[in-house]
Amino acid sequence: MASLTIRRLDDDLKQRLRLRAARNGRSMEDEVRTILRGAAGGKDVRGPAPQLVTEPRARAVAAEPRPDIPRILLIIGGGIAAYKSLDLIRRLKERGAAVRCILTAAAQEFITPLSAGALSGERAFTDLFDAQSEFDIGHIRLARETDLVVVAPATADLMAKMAGGHADDLASAVLLATDRPVLIAPAMNPHMWNHPATRRNLAQLAADGIAQVGPNEGEMAEAGEAGQGRMAEPLEIVAAVESLLGSAGDRPLAGRRVVVTSGPTHEPIDPVRYIANRSSGKQGHAIAAAAAAAGAEVILVSGPVDIPDPAGVTTIKVETAREMLHAVEEAMPADCAIFAAAVADWRVSAPGREKIKKGKDKVPVLSLTENPDILASIAQRKAKRPQLVIGFAAETEDLIANARAKLARKGSDWIVANDVSPATGIMGGDRNRVHLVTAAGVESWPPQSKDEVARALVTRIAAALQGGSQWTGSKSA
Ligand SMILES: Cc1cc2nc3c(=O)[nH]c(=O)nc-3n(C[C@H](O)[C@H](O)[C@H](O)COP(=O)(O)O)c2cc1C
Repeated sequence: MASLTIRRLDDDLKQRLRLRAARNGRSMEDEVRTILRGAAGGKDVRGPAPQLVTEPRARAVAAEPRPDIPRILLIIGGGIAAYKSLDLIRRLKERGAAVRCILTAAAQEFITPLSAGALSGERAFTDLFDAQSEFDIGHIRLARETDLVVVAPATADLMAKMAGGHADDLASAVLLATDRPVLIAPAMNPHMWNHPATRRNLAQLAADGIAQVGPNEGEMAEAGEAGQGRMAEPLEIVAAVESLLGSAGDRPLAGRRVVVTSGPTHEPIDPVRYIANRSSGKQGHAIAAAAAAAGAEVILVSGPVDIPDPAGVTTIKVETAREMLHAVEEAMPADCAIFAAAVADWRVSAPGREKIKKGKDKVPVLSLTENPDILASIAQRKAKRPQLVIGFAAETEDLIANARAKLARKGSDWIVANDVSPATGIMGGDRNRVHLVTAAGVESWPPQSKDEVARALVTRIAAALQGGSQWTGSKSA
C-alpha cells in the first residue's frame, strides 16, 4: 500500500501544498489525494487508496461534508462519565451523523484519543498549539465546520470556563469561537452540581442560549454518593441532539442557502439622531432560526435590534437601508430570500455632518429621499434570482388589498402580510397573525407565536423548493 508522510516532504513543497490546500479549503491530506487522483487521469486509482499519514496516530480525515449528514463536534471533558461518551459516538454514528471529537487534557486521563478516533472514524483533536492540526483544520474551522457542538461530559470546570469566556485550551477556545448551537450534558458529584458557583455558571450558560440535557439523579461512581449529577444516558443525549438539529427528515432545507432580513433600519439625521421604526426583529430572527434548524445555511442581515443573534446563523449587522441592500447583494446567490425587515422607505437627503443645533425660532426641515427597494431589486433580478422570494407587508389598513398590490408591484413570489396597527400588539410583540398572499390566493393563518409562524413558513418554503413550485398551498379566500 502506497504510504506518504507529509511531514517528510521538504519544507518548500510542504509550504506550497499548505497554501494550495488552504486556497481550496481542504486539509493537506485531501489536497494530496486530489492531486493524485488528477495524476491518475481523474479516475480513482484502482486498488486501495494511498494511505496518507501526518502523525503516527493520525487516522483518515473525514470525507467532504455532505449537507444531508449532520455534523457533530463532541467535546469530551475530564469526568468519570467520559467512558459513556464513547458509546455516545457510536450511537450518533449509527444514526448517520459525522462525529468529530475534542478531548480535554483531563478527559485523556479517562479515555484515549485513539478510542475516540477509532469510533468516530476521524482523528480526535487534543491540543490548541498543535502546529499540524492548525495547518490541517485549525480551531476556528473546528468551531465552524459543525452543525452542533455537544459537550459530554460537561465538567464543572468546563462549564465555569464556558460561562467565563475562557479560551486557554482547545475545547474552551472552540466553544468560544463557535457560532453553532451548543448542548451540554453536565456530569459531576452532587455537591459540585449544587454549589452556588455551578448554579451561577449554569444560569449564565442558559442566558447565553446553551441547551442542556441532564444530569440525572442516581448513584455516583464514588462509593456511597448519590444525588443529582449523573450524566444523561447516551440515548437521552442523542434525543436532545435530534430535537436540536432535527432528524434527517426534519432537515428539509439541508443544502439550501437562505437569506433573511430582519429588524428596522436607522436612517441618520445627524451623527446622533436617526429615523427608525418599532420593528423588534423578533419575526425575522425567528425565521432565520427556523430555517437553520431545518438544515439551511442562513445569512441573516439584521438592522439594529435588542435581541440575540440566532444560533447557527451567520448574522450581518447593518444600520441603513442602503447597507442592508449591499449586504443582501453580497449574500447572493441564495435558494430563498425572505425580506422580513421593516426597511425605512425614506432617508434624510443630506444628514448633518455635525449635530444639528437647536436655534432660536429655527426648526430644521428634513428633506427626504426614497431608499432603494430591496425586495423589488432582488425579486426582479434577471440573473441569479433566488428560486423563492418572499416579502413582508406591514400594514395598518386594507391589509390584504395592499399585500396583493405589493405582490404584483414588487415581483415577489409570496407576501406575508400582517396588521401592525398598535391595537394588534404585533409590532414588538411575541405573537403574530399573518396572511400568506400568493398568485394563487390568500391563506389566513391563525394567531400564533412568532416562532410558530416561522416554523410554518419554513415548512412551506421547504415544500416549495422541493417541488420546484412557488406555490404549494391550497387556494382559499
Ligand atoms: C477520578 C476523577 C473523577 C472526576 N470526575 C469528575 C466529574 O464527573 N465531573 C467533574 O466536573 N469533574 C470531575 N473530576 C475533576 C475534573 O477532572 C477536573 O476538574 C478537571 O480539571 C476537568 O478538566 P476539563 O474540564 O478541562 O476536562 C474528576 C477528577 C477525578 C480525579
